[in-house]
Amino acid sequence: MFSNAATIALALLFQQAPDENVDWDAEFGVEEVERDPVTGELPVEDYEQSNANAGATPFSGDGMAQAFGGQDGIRRITDRLIALNTADPRIAAVFEGHDMVRLRRVLFEQFCYILNAGCTYTGRDMKDSHSGMGTTRGDMNALVENLQRAMREEGVGFRAQNRFLSKLAPMSGDVITR
Ligand code: HEM
Repeated sequence: MFSNAATIALALLFQQAPDENVDWDAEFGVEEVERDPVTGELPVEDYEQSNANAGATPFSGDGMAQAFGGQDGIRRITDRLIALNTADPRIAAVFEGHDMVRLRRVLFEQFCYILNAGCTYTGRDMKDSHSGMGTTRGDMNALVENLQRAMREEGVGFRAQNRFLSKLAPMSGDVITR
């Protein structure tokens, strides 16, 4: 009969070295997701594309698009908003692990579509996009503050800022989940 210590020592002695060629992702059923070589985006589950997914109807005329500096201005605002959110200690963690390449594209499309600046929205609806994220009213307030800052930095007039925010406000119900 071996003592406990001897048993452990023997077990360690005869233990096989792990095979370095083991594909641990395959062993544990982890699917490898690869970014699209052209767009750099991660794949998402199929969904029906529609402008209705943008969550608001667009403004009419080109006044709002002009107030936001056209597509170039809108691009700078959405890029800045993402940069502010991902550096904001209040909400940065919520964005970790999500595809910022895709978010950058579809957030631009959404703003551009609503501002009637000549875009089609191809992203998911607000409920599906934010489900299971546990977003709070405080998170939403932080994001709106960052958006106000991004719009202000781009020189968007106060009235146009508020008109745009009033299009986003009703989406809170789909975004805030706790
Ligand atoms: C009215 C307010 C908001 C609007 C208009 C908005 C818009 C969007 C859009 C267009 C997408 C991409 C949808 C897609 O991938 O198809 C998205 C995704 C996302 N949003 Fe928001 N959002 C809002 C509020 C928030 C808030 C408050 C947070 C958290 C602080 C947040 C965090 C995220 C994250 C992490 C994703 C990535 C989801 C994923 O990768 O699946 N959003 N949002």
